[in-house]
Amino acid sequence: MAIRKIARMGHPVLRTSAELVADPTAPEIRCLVEDMLETLAEERGTGLAALQVFVSQRVVVFFVARGEEQVPLTVLINPVVEPLGPEMSLAYEGCLSLPGLTGRVPRFERIEYIGLDLSGQRVARTATGFHARVVQHECDHLDGVLYPMRMTDPGTFGFAEEIHRAVHDERLPLTPPGDPAREGIP
Ligand code: NI
Repeated sequence: MAIRKIARMGHPVLRTSAELVADPTAPEIRCLVEDMLETLAEERGTGLAALQVFVSQRVVVFFVARGEEQVPLTVLINPVVEPLGPEMSLAYEGCLSLPGLTGRVPRFERIEYIGLDLSGQRVARTATGFHARVVQHECDHLDGVLYPMRMTDPGTFGFAEEIHRAVHDERLPLTPPGDPAREGIP
């Protein structure tokens, strides 16, 4: 296992579409996922997509540990996300490819997603709220989409430290709990 370098916004790899994984059980995919998990832990992130470590494969890893919402560490290979209804919610997100920055992003409130795990077994879940947000953020990476491209109010984009302060002082809407500089944390 190894900690891998993370691509930062501006690197062309982040704007590409990742390729479908032909065999989720292949040893190189297991190795990739192990490295992604180690990298995620090192960076204290919530989620990571393979393109962020310069690998063009449709693989994401994430977990959710936030109050009542708990989703164990999940590996999703070739994921597909479908919104369940039109409702959107706004919250701040961060991304390991945009260190120190945050912005307020609209996401579908309720989704279903399917994918494969490392043994090739089907994973199928419905998700709401933060869980749904994290999955949408990570799966966007696989199509070369970074969260600023989803933002509807560029005025809420900036350095997490400043935004945090402004939100706390009520000069910007919507309080981001926790550290907004981290991946997927609103
Ligand atoms: Ni990200």
